[in-house]
Amino acid sequence: MPLVSIVPLLHRAQAGGYALPLFLTPEMLAAEGTVRALEERGASAAVGVYAPWIERPTARALSAYLVALAEEASVPVALMLDHGATLEQCVRAIRFGFTDVMFDGSALPLEENIAATRTVVRAAHAAGVGVEAELGHVGTGTEYQEMGARRVGFTDPCTVAPYVQETGVDVLAVAFGTAHGVYRGEPHLDLDLLRDLRACTDIPLAMHGGSGLSAEQFRGAIAAGVSKINVFTELGLTTGRRLCEHAGAEDASYFTFQEVIRDTFRERCAEYVEVFGAAGRFPEGMGAEG
Ligand code: 13P
Repeated sequence: MPLVSIVPLLHRAQAGGYALPLFLTPEMLAAEGTVRALEERGASAAVGVYAPWIERPTARALSAYLVALAEEASVPVALMLDHGATLEQCVRAIRFGFTDVMFDGSALPLEENIAATRTVVRAAHAAGVGVEAELGHVGTGTEYQEMGARRVGFTDPCTVAPYVQETGVDVLAVAFGTAHGVYRGEPHLDLDLLRDLRACTDIPLAMHGGSGLSAEQFRGAIAAGVSKINVFTELGLTTGRRLCEHAGAEDASYFTFQEVIRDTFRERCAEYVEVFGAAGRFPEGMGAEG
């Protein structure tokens, strides 16, 4: 199936009341496990590459591999740059064949975030590539008690409509209590704020920091208006733990370690797809518009 932008798929998800995942993938085995899970569950998703990885010498080769993997998948798969920090990183991803880029100007003052995002949108749209941007600021789990737990960085509903209009962005990442990485303390999501944000714009909303949330929190966020959910830390931690456990096995070899990575991504991604309500939306043979 040809590579597709995540944007029309997210509009479908928004209308259907479910969410599509973005699973980050640092290398090929993780990507293979992820795509296998999507095919088995009849689900669509974005495979994400974290922006600093796009600077690696091997980034062009990894990108070519991911493009080929997605093209051969029996379900629509998008390829997205995650947290692009500069226009140059976004252009690099576009040159490598990515269907979508996320530009993250959320640490900038609002006017600078708008100006930088608008520039990325112009370049990306000229190449037929979708753009996600972040308004408010999703922090990290290690600083959760100083940030998310105190509502620091939460998206201000008054800024949403002007931001979307002035930037021309396709998908909006919002901050309402999630954080990247392992949460220090319990995550608390402000779903009332999320509902307010949802009412401010028609474009799909994205939630970052999926690792560490309960199935109930995911379902609550989806019901309150989120259509895209990013997940990575838990996939990496679970895979690492299983590799350590496997190290003691009598048959442990280079080949069996590879299987552990593939299988863990396959199993964990499948579970997220089920919880997000994305399973069975793309049975084999059904096109992106099916
Ligand atoms: P986690 O690593 O916390 O799941 O967050 C992933 C993410 O939001 C990537 O943009």
